[in-house]
Amino acid sequence: MTSPLGHPRTVLILGGGSDIAFAIARALIARGTGAFVLAGRHPDVIEARAAALRAAGATAVEVAAFDAEQIDAHEAIVAQAFQRARAISGDVDLALIAFGLIDEASVLDETPAAAGHVAMVNFAGAVSSGLAVAQQLSAQGHGTLVVLSSLAGQRSRPSILPYGAAKAGLDAFTSGLEEALRGSGVRVVSVRPGWVRTRMTANRRSAPFATSPERVASDVLRGLDRGDRVVWTPRLLRLVAPILRLMPRGVFRLLARSR
Ligand SMILES: NC(=O)c1ccc[n+]([C@@H]2O[C@H](COP(=O)([O-])OP(=O)(O)OC[C@H]3O[C@@H](n4cnc5c(N)ncnc54)[C@H](OP(=O)(O)O)[C@@H]3O)[C@@H](O)[C@H]2O)c1
Repeated sequence: MTSPLGHPRTVLILGGGSDIAFAIARALIARGTGAFVLAGRHPDVIEARAAALRAAGATAVEVAAFDAEQIDAHEAIVAQAFQRARAISGDVDLALIAFGLIDEASVLDETPAAAGHVAMVNFAGAVSSGLAVAQQLSAQGHGTLVVLSSLAGQRSRPSILPYGAAKAGLDAFTSGLEEALRGSGVRVVSVRPGWVRTRMTANRRSAPFATSPERVASDVLRGLDRGDRVVWTPRLLRLVAPILRLMPRGVFRLLARSR
């Protein structure tokens, strides 16, 4: 159950090694969240994050194995994660889909297999695990699903084409899922950051409106408090996104080439 303040007590994170997820988890702990189930690909990374959350004040942190590409396993893994959450704390109040994979090369220099992996993780993996979470939350009759999407989904560019296309597909999925969940007591929130300083961007040139995981976390919590369906972070991006979408192709091409 959520506290009287509407604050989540029990949180599930798929992609528990994500830097942005870690900042969100710490911000939640600072506001009283006690219990987490962290699910991710590399047990050592997830265990280290779990230890850091305990040190930051979390009362109970469970870890679980999760690979976004193993879509046949998602239903069972998510069901087990909800059971483990109930065993340590209670129903999952907030589930965060935080995993993601970005292209290593511009599209024509990328192998088709690498492009397929990017699409698989960011789209198919998020659809199957997101639906599994939505079904669990719907069965509970309450809870919030937060999905980390990206500004890149607004208009894709060659340097990260499979990533941008997958995030655009993910946005279509989450807005449709929100509609499907109307009346179920479950909220869906799409978070659309611009460029964030994390492991994912460590070897990339910074972009305008670059921000930190902590800033993303504070914008996400503010969006949750306000009941927003879409959280742009930094918030100025809510004005930039429509300009990007409507910008003439030639201008967008110049902008994309400079990146
Ligand atoms: N950083 C940005 O500029 C930015 C901007 C907009 C949106 N986002 C989105 O924010 C989310 C979090 O990204 P981040 O910036 O926090 O990057 P990050 O620290 O690199 O986190 C990405 C996470 O995804 C996990 N992952 C990748 N492939 C996976 C798979 N097959 N199965 C399970 N987990 C997998 C990684 O796990 P491993 O430890 O196993 O690699 C890592 O923990 C992503 O959805 C990303 O697209 C990021």
